[in-house]
Amino acid sequence: MENIDWKSLPFGYLKTDYNIRCYYRDGKWGELEISSSEYIDMHIAATCLHYGQEAFEGMKAFRGADNKIRVFRCPDNAKRMETSAEGVVMAKVPHDLFHEAVIKTIKMNLRFVPPYGTGASLYIRPLLVGTGAQVGVNPASEYLFMVFVTPVGPYFKEGFNPVEMLVCRDHDRAAPLGTGHIKVGGNYAASLISIVHGHNKGFSSIIYLDAREKKYIDECGPANFFGIKDNTYITPSSTSILPSITNKSLMVLAEDMGMKVERRPVEVTELDSFEEAGACGTAAVISPIKKVVDWQVNKVYEFCKDGKPGPVSVKLYNKLTGIQLGTEPDKWGWTEIVE
Ligand code: PLP
Ligand code: COI
Repeated sequence: MENIDWKSLPFGYLKTDYNIRCYYRDGKWGELEISSSEYIDMHIAATCLHYGQEAFEGMKAFRGADNKIRVFRCPDNAKRMETSAEGVVMAKVPHDLFHEAVIKTIKMNLRFVPPYGTGASLYIRPLLVGTGAQVGVNPASEYLFMVFVTPVGPYFKEGFNPVEMLVCRDHDRAAPLGTGHIKVGGNYAASLISIVHGHNKGFSSIIYLDAREKKYIDECGPANFFGIKDNTYITPSSTSILPSITNKSLMVLAEDMGMKVERRPVEVTELDSFEEAGACGTAAVISPIKKVVDWQVNKVYEFCKDGKPGPVSVKLYNKLTGIQLGTEPDKWGWTEIVE
């Protein structure tokens, strides 16, 4: 695509050539259907529109230094979409169907996979929605599974440069026994008010605290949180956190680098003792954090005083992106070569 400025792509939607759809009707999934339309036709009483019966995934494909295209940890996303479907009582997408749809969608849009060295990648968005009509609050009997792709740049405009985060004490993203652990639209709807508030105040994103006690760190906007101290990678455990596949990968990489890994409740005040802090996710990759402002309790935490990402974050970032781009060995079989 000669007219795309790959190096300055934002994290946004750009029309690509094709997407894939698959319908669940009469208790079974149909064939994958290829579409060049960006629109879907839907019943006015579809459950996704009224009762939020929907789930999505986010993954990426990369063009490597060897010009091969790799998709990262697709089976993990298939599994998570299954957990999300169970959580809001939807038909589950079989893992082989999920995989086939993802690979086909990438292959049909090869000209949108950004070139190696641009920092951009092909974002893949699988989406499962209740399409059957209901007026009472009940699960639908029909579903639509779709996959579209779009080339993207960094989620935060800072890229791998440190960002500032605001602690949210006025809203919760998810309840302790709610839907925070699955990837459903309602969680993102609940997060919008605080994200817009944070953006208006000049912050890249929001740090959510646990809803029960407002004491522990849950997540950083659409990403998990990690902190580094004493050669240890520390990331929160909580029932309302989305289990990030990036975070899971970073825990393995940290251990492989000889670090200790702790997954446990992390009090927000512990930020004072971290040498480095960051947000991690498919979209965010690793976004180092330079400042966390908890203004309601008059507290500011600062990292990266020289304005640069910390050394452990740099090492983890290079390892992770190296595996994705085929410049580091993929010891754990996380990538699949698409083409
Ligand atoms: N947390 C939330 C709320 C997210 O939306 C995401 C993005 O998917 C993540 C964490 C990171 O998860 P992953 O690394 O699997 O993309
Ligand atoms: C991702 O990291 O894949 C996400 O889904 C984050 C966000 C754009 C919702």
